[in-house]
This record gives sequence, C-alpha cells and structure tokens, in this order.
Amino acid sequence: MNMSIVATTPFNDQKPGTSGLRKRVAVFQAASYLENFVQAIFDTIFDTAAAPAGSTLVLGGDGRYFNREAIQVILKMAAANGFGKVLVGQGGILSTPAASCVIRKYRSFGGIILSASHNPGGPDGDFGIKYNTGNGGPAPEKITDAIFARTRVLTSYRIIEAPDVALDQLGSCTLGDMTVEVIDPVADYAELMESLFDFAAIRALIGSGFRLCFDAMHAVTGPYASEILERRLGAPAGTVINGVPLPDFGGGHPDPNLTYAGQLVAIMYGPDRNAAPDFGAASDGDGDRNMILGRHFFVTPSDSLAVIAANAELAPGYAAGLAGIARSMPTSAAADRVAEKLGVPCYETPTGWKFFGNLMDAGKVTLCGEESFGTGSSHVREKDGLWAVLFWLNILAKRQLSVEDIVHRHWAEFGRNIYSRHDYEALPSDVATGLMARVQEQFVDLPGRCFGNYRVKFCDDFSYTDPIDGSLSAGQGLRIGFEDGSRIVFRLSGTGTEGATLRIYLEAFEADPAKQRIDAQQALAGLIDIAHELSQLNQRTGRTRPTVIT
Ligand code: G1P
Ligand code: ZN
Repeated sequence: MNMSIVATTPFNDQKPGTSGLRKRVAVFQAASYLENFVQAIFDTIFDTAAAPAGSTLVLGGDGRYFNREAIQVILKMAAANGFGKVLVGQGGILSTPAASCVIRKYRSFGGIILSASHNPGGPDGDFGIKYNTGNGGPAPEKITDAIFARTRVLTSYRIIEAPDVALDQLGSCTLGDMTVEVIDPVADYAELMESLFDFAAIRALIGSGFRLCFDAMHAVTGPYASEILERRLGAPAGTVINGVPLPDFGGGHPDPNLTYAGQLVAIMYGPDRNAAPDFGAASDGDGDRNMILGRHFFVTPSDSLAVIAANAELAPGYAAGLAGIARSMPTSAAADRVAEKLGVPCYETPTGWKFFGNLMDAGKVTLCGEESFGTGSSHVREKDGLWAVLFWLNILAKRQLSVEDIVHRHWAEFGRNIYSRHDYEALPSDVATGLMARVQEQFVDLPGRCFGNYRVKFCDDFSYTDPIDGSLSAGQGLRIGFEDGSRIVFRLSGTGTEGATLRIYLEAFEADPAKQRIDAQQALAGLIDIAHELSQLNQRTGRTRPTVIT
C-alpha cells in the first residue's frame, strides 16, 4: 500500500455547530481543509473512542456538489487510517436516516454523512460533514469536542495513493488493505420501512384512486421515494416530482416548508380544490425533514407529531404502543395531550435532535418531534422524512378520512394547540442579543402582569437536565407562559449562517371545536402584539414583519 503523510495546517475556525461542520463549498475545496477535518474524526475514532483496528465505517451523502470528490478522499484516508471496511452508498448517496439505518443494521463503528441538510448546494452553496456513532445518531458533544480539538493541533493527514473507487458499481473492491463495499443506498432503508408500516393497506389505498404527490426537491429522497412510493406501493409514475437528485438541487432551497416547496404548494392549493391530490409531502436536502399537506391544508409539524402519536397503533411497527414521546421545548404541547391520554411520559428537551438520542437509547421514548419539520422514532437515531410520510399514509389507509378530517377530529378530541413560528433572519448579532436581554430583564416583575386578557403565569430561561446522563443544558430559550395556557418563546437560532436569526414561537390553546378552525395568525394576534411589546421588536430591529412565518 502506498501511503503518504501529508502536511496540513491546523484549523483556525470557530467550533462547528451541533449538526457537524457546514461551510461554503469553496472552503471545503481549499487545500487540506476537508482532509484536516476527516483526519481529526479518524484520530478521535481510534483514540478517544478507542475503535479497534479493522473497524467498519459507513459513508454517504446527500449528493450535493463536491459529494463525489469528498467520498474519494475519505475512502483513501480511511484505508490509510486502519479501517477494515467501508460501506459506501452507490454513487456516494445515503440519506441521513438511511445512513443511520445502515450504521445500526450492520453494527458498524460509526459513519460519516456528507450533507448541509436544507442549505442550498452547488459551487456557491454549502457543503457539510458530520460523524455519527454506532447507535446511528449524531456524535455526542464529548466526541465532537474531541474532533474539534484535534483540528486545531494536527499537522498532517494520512492518505493512500490509489485510483478512484468506481462508486456507481455495486459490489466489493479493495483499497490498500481495506475493503470497500458499494451498497444499494435504498434497499436496507426500504426494508426497514416495510417492517414498520402496513404496505398492503397503503397499496390498497393508492389502488382505490387516492392521489398523492411527493416533492423530493431534486435532493436525496428522490430515489428512496421512487422505489418506495412508486415501485413498492404502486403509486403512478410521476407521483414523485423533482425526483432526480442534482448537485445544486436544481438551484432551489431544499427545505420542505410552505415557502420553499412552492411547486408542491401550488399543486396542493390549486384553484380547483377537487383537482388537488389527496396528500402531499416533501423532504429536505438529506431526507430528514418532512412537510405534510392535505388538499388546501397544511399540517403543522407539532400537530403531525401529535396525530402520529394518537394513531401510532395503526402501524404494525408501533402496534405494541409507545414507550413515551419527546418534543423540543418550542414545539407545541399538542403531543403532551396525547401522551397524557395514552398514559405515557412526555419529555420536553432543548432544540436539536441530539437530545432525543439518549432517551431513545434508554428505551424511554418511541416518538420524537420538533416544530421545525422534524419527526422520527427509535427505528433510527435521526429524524426521518419519508418515515413520517409513510406513517401518514398508513394512518390515512386505516382511517379512510382526508388529512383535514383527521386533523379536525384530532383537535375536537384533544383540543387545538394553535401554533406559529415567526423568524427574523439576518439581524445584526448585537441587536439580537440586546433584544433577548431586554426580554429577560423584565422577568423579575412579569409574573402576575396582565396584557389585556392575558395574565402572565410564569417566565424562565429554559434549561434541561438530561435524565439519562445528568448533563445540564442551560440558556435554551426564554419562555413566557400565560394563565390560559398560551405561550410565547424567544430563541436565537444556533444554525444560521448570516448574522443572527430570532425565532418567536407562539402558541394558544382552544378547547372548543366550534372555535378551532380559525386562521392561526388571527388567533395569535394578541400574543404577537405582546411579543413585540416585550421585545421592543420594531424599535430595536427596524423590522415590521417576520422574514418567514410558519
Ligand atoms: C433548526 C431548528 C431545530 C433543528 C435544527 C437542525 O435549529 O429550529 O429544530 O433541530 O435546525 O435541523 P435553529 O436554527 O433553530 O437553532
Ligand atoms: Zn436535513
């Protein structure tokens, strides 16, 4: 084996976020940048995590620009660093949930996922890399801290000189002393989905004339959705739109929300209501987010989690019931009401999927969700877009009701948590932190204060003690709760790339079915005014309306 030790310069960067290292493609293309980070991951795997020599690694990405080049570099570095085998998705492709599935199924030591999630791709877009451990989930902070510390001190990386691996050809080959197995990126994932959901019932639903549309946004879920929805479940060709993954996602922003999934929204909200499909869904760049739509109807991710929880026993993989449910703090309490009725615990965690991993590993929760279009379960250790879509199809097949009727009946039974998130993007950082400080300053005399009909019950800065490992996460968002159960939360985004993003989460509760079908913005108008007043939003930011309303 022809191995080189190449000199590199230590990183001088800020610490990567919880979702791995995400930067512009050009940054990754600079000499030694990718190599430095990969060597730091490998050093950490073998030193801090004490992987045995000859361990197996899983490797794949969302197909964005620079994916193939990065895969070849990582394979040659893996061969030089003592791995015995790498399982790589054909064409370098693995969606994030599929990578989690493959890591778990083949009991590999861990995996490297190349993705910048929902961020745009292409030569001027973003690229990203993250390490997942053997449970299939994102590496815990102890590991990511060790990786980061390594990037700052290492002065060389190891790589073998060898021709590129034929990534499009299924099967095994050797690279130095290491085996590379190019695997079908869809097969293991599709098999897992088939074990969880009633495919026969969904096939019958689709055969009965039920129409659906899935927007893959030219990102990684295209091949997964075509295989599962069209081939295995019999949906007609064309059900999956934008199904060919493109390195630049066709120039789009692969984030499944009402703004960016514009084509799907136009189809589902077409002028002729009856011509719209019965069900619409979309997923993001790497396949872990989801948006669920009915005919002229949007299901908030918070409601989606609650509906899935309430109907979980209709899916074979969940027929034995749920161990518990977890939601991030800013996600609405709709799932809490379901958990209460089911008599199972409901955990409220800080924002970010990693907090769910410990609860799932300990068997405490089965379902998890975030308001930011993330839903998932203990079948893998990432959120899972297509899984949520299949869960909904399973529920629709069993209940024989429209998406809208299912949600309306859910509200009638449990009450409606009317919900919205307002984002103010690209604020100057000092303006954003000043605004947060202003809100918090008022906490001393806020309890008991009345704003019109709203009387403040409590306010705090959310902190969380992990029930499994006892770790404390403080400063997770400013919460103001009112006597009638309404709530306002202020939080700064931890993933933005430009300036600061302020997120204001608004929630009210309506128990009366006669009043539930109200427009959320209208129902929340009073709370929106209070939020503006408490934060001096207009004076401080100069903004009169949010950048994005969800
Ligand atoms: C956002 C979402 C959060 C999600 C994260 C990663 O983080 O709000 O729920 O876990 O992306 O997908 P934020 O920018 O709010 O820190
Ligand atoms: Zn994603």
